[in-house]
Amino acid sequence: MTAKLSVNINKIATLRNARGGNYPSVVEAAKNCEKFGADGITVHPRPDERHITKQDVYDLSKEVKTEFNIEGNPNERFMKMIEEVRPAQATLVPDGENVLTSNAGWDTIANKDLLTDKIAELKSYGVRTSLFIETDPKMIEHAALVGADRIEFYTGPYADNYASDKAAAIKEYVACAHVALDNNLAINAGHDLSLENLAYFAQNIPNLAEVSIGHALISDALYLGLENTINMYKKLLVVS
Ligand code: PXP
Repeated sequence: MTAKLSVNINKIATLRNARGGNYPSVVEAAKNCEKFGADGITVHPRPDERHITKQDVYDLSKEVKTEFNIEGNPNERFMKMIEEVRPAQATLVPDGENVLTSNAGWDTIANKDLLTDKIAELKSYGVRTSLFIETDPKMIEHAALVGADRIEFYTGPYADNYASDKAAAIKEYVACAHVALDNNLAINAGHDLSLENLAYFAQNIPNLAEVSIGHALISDALYLGLENTINMYKKLLVVS
């Protein structure tokens, strides 16, 4: 199985917002990512709209032809957006209002009731749900119990430890991938994945369904070009 590449285009919006106006356009960027081989487009509209705005989500929903994945904390505003937009997937993230970037997975035990309700609501909209999760088997088992379809491994710690000892960095992810599969959860992954660390992750995680990559991919595109960069990331996902 070759994992799908969903390109997170938050950083295109960051660049656009630096000057106001609509350049570079996130819709054009999404269309180009798809043309160059992305299997999906991911956005993470944050409450302060510092990159992707609510309007971007609605604009993108009309144009994205591949899998549209919207990430966020399932508050009222987020749930209304999902109800109206009906993306292929919602990735629920336990972000506080002002975090710089997602930096922790769900406590699926403490948030059991909240997640059960929100996931049931998302299911009624026909939207697949993925829960952002750290490498804790208990949290993964409870992700299944609250009704999630998938987990998204928070790969920040993997990326941090990759350079010093990649075998140690991936060990818990492999063990937890088996827990996920035993609980009928499909596996996504994201955060700080890069041209350097992606291949090893894809080669070692059984049945990896999808990765979402933003920061490194958009940064690499400055030097390598967007088309070339997307092709390079996609090649790293092909596991022989
Ligand atoms: N997954 C989640 C839940 C995120 O919040 C982000 C960052 O928006 C990513 C994946 C992608 O991380 P990166 O930009 O480091 O590739």
